[in-house]
Amino acid sequence: MLAKARQRIERAGWRNIELIRDDAARLEQVKDPADATVSAWCLGIVHDLPAALDRLLNATRAGGSVAIMDFVKSQPDHGPLKPLYPLYRRLLIAAGIDAPEDLDNERLAERWQEGRASLCAQLENMTEEPYLWGAGLQMHGCR
Ligand SMILES: C[S@@+](CC[C@H](N)C(=O)[O-])C[C@H]1O[C@@H](n2cnc3c(N)ncnc32)[C@H](O)[C@@H]1O
Repeated sequence: MLAKARQRIERAGWRNIELIRDDAARLEQVKDPADATVSAWCLGIVHDLPAALDRLLNATRAGGSVAIMDFVKSQPDHGPLKPLYPLYRRLLIAAGIDAPEDLDNERLAERWQEGRASLCAQLENMTEEPYLWGAGLQMHGCR
């Protein structure tokens, strides 16, 4: 991911980006809080979700913006992709891309229920928008 990000930064000529390799549940390399933080499809597989959310919020300055998109269920509630998901899940596990527990519907729902409650308690003007027929959720708010 970092190599791809580096290529993209070089291609675009961006000068205000610093890439950091860190554990999302620790974020020990982040020194100063940012104006905005974004997490895409990562926190759902971080094992200590409450710690990761707290770190993300601490890495965002007061009044700054926090945006998270993730899979909160292992398959859509409805829609054309729903019947394909059991097969997709088996392929991801067989290929070693995801562990079975990361694709467990009950576990995902339970951890995100806690995660959303924590975000609601700590963010102002929190909004939530489902996508992918209910499998994904975009969450946004101000610290
Ligand atoms: C589904 S990919 C998403 C990658 C990227 N955010 C994107 O949108 O294309 C999830 C990534 O999270 C990484 N990951 C898993 N646990 C992590 C952790 N504790 N800290 C940082 N990254 C983690 C995995 O290695 C994987 O590359």
